[in-house]
Amino acid sequence: MLLRITGNYDEMSELAAGIVAERLRKNPALVLGLATGSTPLGTYRALIRMHREQGLDFSRVTTFNLDEYIGLGATHPQSYHRFMEEHLFQHLNLDRRFTFIADGMAKDVEAHCDWYEEQIRLSGGIDIQILGIGRNGHLAFNEPGSSLGSRTRIKPLSEETRRDNARYFASLEAVPTHAITMGIGTIMEARELILLASGDTKADAVKAAVEGPITAIVPASIMQMHRRAYVIVDQPAAAKLTRTYLG
Ligand code: PGA
Repeated sequence: MLLRITGNYDEMSELAAGIVAERLRKNPALVLGLATGSTPLGTYRALIRMHREQGLDFSRVTTFNLDEYIGLGATHPQSYHRFMEEHLFQHLNLDRRFTFIADGMAKDVEAHCDWYEEQIRLSGGIDIQILGIGRNGHLAFNEPGSSLGSRTRIKPLSEETRRDNARYFASLEAVPTHAITMGIGTIMEARELILLASGDTKADAVKAAVEGPITAIVPASIMQMHRRAYVIVDQPAAAKLTRTYLG
């Protein structure tokens, strides 16, 4: 695990975007794993700026998102389809045939999940996957207790996650109860991982993921098993780490 503690959110975002940009310059046909939530927004803004100002080219990039709510169509304001459109896709020169997000309205969810896994395989696999972390240590919507070998599938959301995400919805009741999520096994097959965490509300989860035992109760702790996993956090999110980290 390559842990980087940055001074603040903006530095965290610039560092993450810089890694993605560097990989993209080396490999114009990069397969990029994307996350939603408030944490990666600064990274996306930095990538958009590099696209505009430096001509960072996304025309041959394929993207795969981690998850989508069950029951929300692509045009629903709180769907992750809309989130990605608004905060990233419409600002870049992506080929939209190659921006994959699971379909929350899929009739046969199991078949759709298998199809999604197949698309990842056909793309050659994810080169670099951006990740957030839940306050409960979840990775994507792999809530505590998720199988560490799991693949893309439907999962119920924990009450904690539904409460955390209620800020985007009119009420707690409006938050979907289930999601399609890449599995932990799927995520672990990405060649590189970048986990981002910002703010003191993430400090316990970061400590458990980085310094705790590897356990399904803290899904993000599985990153300790990955060969090339960056954990990029700001000072408040790093506040509970007890070992000394250099560099
Ligand atoms: P956040 O969500 O970036 O909005 O904090 C992260 C997550 O729940 O994985």
